[in-house]
Amino acid sequence: MHKETVGIMLDKNKNRMEIRSPKTKEEWKKYYDIRYRILRKPYGAPKGEEKKPEDAIADHRAIFLGGNMIGIGMIYDDKGNARIRFIAIDEKYQKRGFGKIMMEELEKSAKEKGYRKIVLWGDEPAVKFYEKLGYKNTGKGPMIFGKIQQYNMGKKI
Ligand SMILES: CC(C)(COP(=O)(O)OP(=O)(O)OC[C@H]1O[C@@H](n2cnc3c(N)ncnc32)[C@H](O)[C@@H]1OP(=O)(O)O)[C@@H](O)C(=O)NCCC(=O)NCCS
Repeated sequence: MHKETVGIMLDKNKNRMEIRSPKTKEEWKKYYDIRYRILRKPYGAPKGEEKKPEDAIADHRAIFLGGNMIGIGMIYDDKGNARIRFIAIDEKYQKRGFGKIMMEELEKSAKEKGYRKIVLWGDEPAVKFYEKLGYKNTGKGPMIFGKIQQYNMGKKI
């Protein structure tokens, strides 16, 4: 685990970290709010674009720090592979190891379910982050909202 994250966890008890699915109506609202604010609004996408049919079949995770949701992500079956999607860490908490923690949690969930490969569409600014975690860039994927190039990425687990 990232050193600084361990520091946060040990220094201040109220900042204890927890990773789990959102549960209450309020937590689900916060989950989709983060998705919209970080992954849709900056691309000029209209409200509503943060929800997808795959949400119904996905395994969702949120990182709570001191009870406050600061990161989100989901994983679901896509033609026999596990697809990770909608990873976002609140701006104030980026580059502190939480994205890596989220990815490791989703990878654990995929392994437990017996998947052998994880795939994802990496947004151009996040490609290096995924490469650091062992994902291979296999070429251009969809272009979203005419603004952001995505890349097909994958990792055997
Ligand atoms: C991309 C994102 C999820 C990464 O999460 P994070 O908490 O900031 O990343 P971490 O601190 O866990 O970084 C893990 C490693 O990747 C590196 N890294 C993270 N973002 C990076 C970037 N944009 N470019 C290069 N390296 C990066 C870190 O330096 C770190 O390296 P280290 O282990 O050698 O220290 C987060 O920045 C984010 O939410 N960005 C905006 C939304 C987004 O682009 N989501 C992905 C959509 S596909």
